[in-house]
Order: sequence, then structure tokens, then C-alpha cells
Amino acid sequence: MGDSSVAAVIVLAAGSGTRMKSHTSKLLHPLCGKPLLTWALGAAEGVAPQKLVVVVGHNRDQVEAHLQEVAPHVLTAVQETQDGTGHAVRCAMEALEGITGDIVVTYGDVPMLTAETLRRLVNTHRQASNAMTIMTSILDNPTGYGRVLRSGNGISGVVEERDADDAQKAIKETNAGIYVFDADLLRDGLASLTPDNDQHQLYLTDVVGYACSHGHRVGAYLENDRWQTEGINDRTQLAAMSHELNHRIVHGWMLEGVTIIDPETTWIEAGVSIEQDVVLWPGTILAGATSIASGAVIGPDSRLTDVEVGSGAQVVRSEATLAVIGAGATVGPFSYLRPGTTLGEKGKIGAYVETKNAQIGEGSKVPHLTYCGDAVIGEGTNIGAGTIFANYDSKAKHVTTVGKNVFIGSQSVLVAPLVIGDDSFVAAGSALTSDVATGELAVARGRQRNIAGWVQSFRERTRAKKPAVAGTADSAESSLVETSETPTADTTETPVVVPPQESDSTSTGKE
Ligand code: UD1
Ligand code: CA
Repeated sequence: MGDSSVAAVIVLAAGSGTRMKSHTSKLLHPLCGKPLLTWALGAAEGVAPQKLVVVVGHNRDQVEAHLQEVAPHVLTAVQETQDGTGHAVRCAMEALEGITGDIVVTYGDVPMLTAETLRRLVNTHRQASNAMTIMTSILDNPTGYGRVLRSGNGISGVVEERDADDAQKAIKETNAGIYVFDADLLRDGLASLTPDNDQHQLYLTDVVGYACSHGHRVGAYLENDRWQTEGINDRTQLAAMSHELNHRIVHGWMLEGVTIIDPETTWIEAGVSIEQDVVLWPGTILAGATSIASGAVIGPDSRLTDVEVGSGAQVVRSEATLAVIGAGATVGPFSYLRPGTTLGEKGKIGAYVETKNAQIGEGSKVPHLTYCGDAVIGEGTNIGAGTIFANYDSKAKHVTTVGKNVFIGSQSVLVAPLVIGDDSFVAAGSALTSDVATGELAVARGRQRNIAGWVQSFRERTRAKKPAVAGTADSAESSLVETSETPTADTTETPVVVPPQESDSTSTGKE
């Protein structure tokens, strides 16, 4: 089909999209991960146009900014007032002065039209030697669409719903609004248009009448996939189309060898890539440029946006954005990987862990209840339960670097900036504010003191003071909170020194 390239494609996108009821241009609303207009441009590019013109009007600034970002080579033509589809194409033709050859017209709000279908339209047009070819669709409920009037084996006209009589309204073949024109016919036909209709607009469809009356051949290309010719006007249609397109995408991945346990609750955006033998559990959402390597298992109930998942990795009930999950690594349940997270091969981000700008080395583990932000962690390191990487000092963010084969005891606070050397050990419950060198043990917390006989003496004292509640352990405990008898730091007893290695053995970060 290399020969279906055309002189130009004109994409009409100036309409107001009122029924969307949105501050955002209708054309920028996403469908399976891409704005409606981006989908439309994708189809347009499929016929390799020498010139691609988008007619802008309503919300022009938003649409132009989007085009500048995703398709800077596209020309825009401004239609100041929306005086009809014929008027819109006139505006585009001003940007295409002197053009010859085939010109395709499509809509910015018909996103499921494919490049392949547009190529077939162009090929049909050329094989039949038409001067104009209309894409049509047969709809059970054609209400609202222009009806196609046939005579002999050609097309004699298109009549809009509001201008149609009852017999014409009964016609089920509708105008999709997608056409190929010979440039000369289009120019002449546009010049002939008058606003002689119910809306007092210039109708592109009236070019059909001009063509027929001047002896040009007008043909039709019937598209059987009605979704490809359907426009989006409101959010109910957007939802229905999202459902349909997602269904097709999910179905396609199953045929490529991906196991999808529940296609109905699995959402896969258009930019995602998945290798074979991946398993997706119910409630999985794969968005953006996410890629999943062979043998990985995702879900249930997980959303990955722009995430790279290595082969054999597992992600359970978690949310991740702009992250890399290494081969054989595990994530979740209930974790939150924010941008800049890189989990090394066979590493682990376990339950209730939040990470951000965190490089976690090969085989390293952050298994439970941790905030790990602005961190660089070497390989084979274990971060104990409840560890907090305190990266923010109320003014700026700082980095914590943890070496390889390090053990961070549970419930530690690592106050950045901080460097913790290889093979070091941080005692559980430490609040570290200065660096730890290779091989060192760091303990940064109050020492434990055990005071012999204290409970007995305490109970006796509180019993004497509060005889009404004496006698139960519960009442002794509650009065412990209230009493002024609680020993204070300046008690004269000698503190009991517990070696940190021993105290840590009951409170490690190991799984
Ligand atoms: C148009 C066709 C109708 C067809 C239907 C298919 C005409 C007169 N009618 O009707 O036969 O069945 O599409 O969906 O062409 N637009 C502009 N500027 C304008 C008017 C429209 O850019 O002044 C753009 C809109 O943004 C939209 C497209 O053209 O993307 C179609 O416009 P719309 O008003 O929806 O046309 P319909 O009345 O539905
Ligand atoms: Ca419409």
C-alpha cells in the first residue's frame, strides 16, 4: 500500500465541542491514553500526506499548544467563526494554495479511524477514478447524521438530518464526514457553496451536488466497523468508545500471548508494550509508555504509568509512575513507587512502602512500612521495617546514600544528607544525622535502662494513694500515665547498658 500517499490531509478541528462541558478542548480529552486529536493525526499520517493541515478555532490556544508539542510539522489554519464544514475546508485550502492531487478530509473528533482504513479509502478512490469519494457507514440508528443519496452506482448527494424529508430520514447509509477529493474539484466545489440550508452554514457535503452536476464521478467507500466513523460529542460517548477500544487492545494482547485473567477490568493504554507469558490479574491498569517483560505478573489492583517492568517481576496491589522494576523483583502489596524509583534485579519493595527518586540496588530489600525518598542504595542491603529516609529539612531535599550489604535496623530515621558506607550496620531505632563509615556500627538512640524492683515499689506507692482502684494490673497501668511518681531522667540508679547488637537481635528489619 506504499502508493496511497496523498497531497494533503485536512483535519477539521475548529468546532466548539459544547456537549463535552469542559474547560479543556474536546480534542484534548484522552482516549486510552492519547488525546482524540492525536489519534486523528495518527490516521492522517497513515496516508503519508505532503501537507497536513489542522483547522483550529475554538480553544485554539490549547489545540495549537498541543500540536506544537506532539506534531510541530503540522500546519494550522484558523477558522475564526464556525460557519460550517465547507467553510472550514475553505480556510484550510488557503494554506494549500495551488495544490494538486488527492486531498483527504477527516475530523479531529473521530479517533478510532485507522490509517489502514484511510489508505483503503484512498485506494478505492483511485481504482474507481473518482473525483470525490465519501466514506459511509450503515447505522441502525442514523439519527443526527447526513444521509447518503444514491443513484445508479454513484452518489448523488448528502442531505443533513435537519434538511431531510421523511423518506430521506429512513435511509440508514450515513456520511462519515471523511472524504477524498481531487484538489481541483474541491477548490471549485468550495467556491460554489451557499449557506442555503437550515443552519445557514457552508456545507462541505454540498460539494457532492456540485461534482455531480459538473459530470464528475462521486463514489462511496462503505466502512463496516461503525466505531471507526463515530465522532465523540459528550462524555458518555467517550466512555463507550474507551470501553470498546480498550476491549480491542486487551484482546490483541491476549492473541500476542499475554494471559489476562479478567479482560473486563483490565485497562491497557495504546502506548503500552507487553511480552509474552505476562500475567495480568483483575484490576490492572497499564498506562503511558509502560513496558512489561516476559513472565512478569501484575495485579490484582495495580496501576503502572510509564513503568518498565523486568522479566519475571511481580507487582501486587500497587501504584507506580516513572519507575523501573528489575527482573525478578517484587513490589507490594500496597506500595507506592513515585517517579525516579529504580528497583534492582531481584530487589524487593514490600508492603506499605513509598519510594521517590530512589535507586535500590540489586537484591536489596525495603520490605515494610518505609518512606524511601532521594536515596541511593547499593546491592544486597536490607532496610528495616519502618525506616524513614528524612530527605526534607523544610527548605530543600537531600540525598541519603547507603552502600552495599548494609543493614538498617527497624524504625530508623536517616536524616539526609547522609552517607552510610558499605557493610555497615545501623542499630534499630536510630536517628542518624552523621555519616557512617564502612564496616561501622552506628547507634543513635537513648540507651535502655532496666530498673530492678521498680514495678513492685510503684504499685505499693500508687495503691496507698488510690485505694479505691487498687488491686488490678490495669488500674496500676493507667495511674502510671497520670502519677507524678513516674521516675524522671535524673534518677540516681545506674543505667543498665545493653549492647546494641543484642537489643537489635529482637528487632531487626529482616522478613
Ligand atoms: C457532519 C456532516 C454530516 C455527517 C457528520 C458525520 C456536514 C454539513 N455534515 O455533520 O453529513 O454525517 O458530520 O459526523 O458536513 N467543524 C469545523 N468547523 C465548522 C464546523 C465543523 O471545524 O465550522 C468540524 C467540527 O469540529 C467537527 C467536524 O467538523 O470535528 C464535524 O462538525 P459537526 O458540526 O459535528 O458536523 P455534523 O453536523 O455532525
Ligand atoms: Ca458531529
